[in-house]
Amino acid sequence: MPLIQWDETMSVGMDELDDQHRELIDLINETYAAIQRHDEPLMTSLIDKMRDYSVVHFRAEEAILRSCDYPGSDVHAGQHRAFEDKVADFRRDMFVKTNLSQVFIFLSRWLTNHIMHEDRKFILWLPETDDKGA
Ligand SMILES: [Fe+2]
Repeated sequence: MPLIQWDETMSVGMDELDDQHRELIDLINETYAAIQRHDEPLMTSLIDKMRDYSVVHFRAEEAILRSCDYPGSDVHAGQHRAFEDKVADFRRDMFVKTNLSQVFIFLSRWLTNHIMHEDRKFILWLPETDDKGA
């Protein structure tokens, strides 16, 4: 069973960002499965992929927020940097931690909460598109 399941309650009303969130969630689920199997080489490559993709996604999201003058842009970008730091800490300590699954679950919950509560705050600032509010 996947750790996180994307559903419509996580939609921010823009296909580009929803697709990126789904991609990130897929990577989190794959990484978690590798952690549970203690597959260290796979864990390492997946956490690197997840880290790199989260940076790409956060930059894209921040550019969109700035382009539509979202007033919370700076605070929001700061939250993204905090997540990047958490992932970097995880990556650094992943082979010395005994509670790796728990720490990873904490990371995944952080991201789910961020999408559902922080990302959804900017919905009203996004440009009107056909997929918005669907
Ligand atoms: Fe965000």
